[in-house]
Amino acid sequence: MSKPIVYVTRLIPKEGLRMLADVAEVRVWEGSSPVPREVLEKEIRSAAGLISLITDTVDASLMDLAPDLKVVANYAVGFDNIQVEEATKRGIFVTNTPDVLTHATADLAMGLMIAAARRIPEGERFLRNGMWKSWTPTLLVGKDVYGASLGIIGFGRIGQAVAQRAKGFQMKIYYYDEQRNYPMESDLGVKYMPLNELLALSDFVSLHVPLNENTRHLIDKEKLVRMKNDAVLINTARGGVVDEEALIEALSQGIIGGAGLDVFAEEPMPRNSKLLQLANVVMVPHIGSASWSARRQMAEVAARNVTAVLDGKTPPDAINAVWF
Ligand code: NAP
Ligand code: GLV
Repeated sequence: MSKPIVYVTRLIPKEGLRMLADVAEVRVWEGSSPVPREVLEKEIRSAAGLISLITDTVDASLMDLAPDLKVVANYAVGFDNIQVEEATKRGIFVTNTPDVLTHATADLAMGLMIAAARRIPEGERFLRNGMWKSWTPTLLVGKDVYGASLGIIGFGRIGQAVAQRAKGFQMKIYYYDEQRNYPMESDLGVKYMPLNELLALSDFVSLHVPLNENTRHLIDKEKLVRMKNDAVLINTARGGVVDEEALIEALSQGIIGGAGLDVFAEEPMPRNSKLLQLANVVMVPHIGSASWSARRQMAEVAARNVTAVLDGKTPPDAINAVWF
């Protein structure tokens, strides 16, 4: 009997591909940029499983082309690129890669916080451009992270992992989430705050909510105005959680002090983005989970979810299993 086909929209670490090869015929888009839609539309027709990336839109029109599709395993924890309800209607499992990238992403959030506060990229540009003439008392002076206040918006896996790190920096930690987490409040010594109060009290604000219809532009002009005028906004969640035009205005006009960004309204960022002109922004190209260990484990998790479904089981990381 022929093996079911699994389509993988980009080369992922080999550990995951090997696991899939035991149970499936694995087809991979090996291009250096995202799979073109027309290729995906062709390949999906015969696929029983799809490993997708955040750069792939998995919508109703794609799933309609896939009579045999049983599972879409996103190679990410966020799944705003997938129309989950449409998958559920068609009996298709959707899975993600929770936990294995939590620490890598929390590390990056802390890195952006320190880099923005202490102007590390600005200092490196200064040095590389040959501008360093002498040690100077006022050169590249920034803001303390140690002992400062941190507001965490979205207190799930990554938000909590950031709090654990911030505790080591003796930060005063506030969080806002849809639900209070009383055990964590006492374990980590963090304090729940309504959103507006958190914004007003925090020296640093770090975003860790998923992108959905409730969180799109959660941080807009009105929210930015509530922040301290030297506060730093860290976004490793999704670009769409922030109104980027309002953020650019706030950063340009001194409404807030700075930002550390891993995610953007449009990715890759257009070359004419005004963010590129601002010295008080530290930016990296969506690399939150980019540690070797996290990326390898994400491949294994995605493969484990696909193999479970092909074996007739409920996948361990199903987002929509409860609706089946
Ligand atoms: P998670 O464990 O599900 O945490 C998200 C938290 O946000 C949950 O506690 C959730 O509450 C809360 N939340 C949801 N909607 C909210 C709202 N409207 N207001 C306040 N809180 C809300 O997810 P995670 O693993 O920490 O990941 C968080 C997000 O980070 C992902 O969805 C993804 O977009 C992003 N991410 C980015 C990178 C990167 O490379 N930059 C890497 C990994 C993750 P409930 O559980 O009650 O809904
Ligand atoms: C990356 O952005 C993820 O959601 O895993």
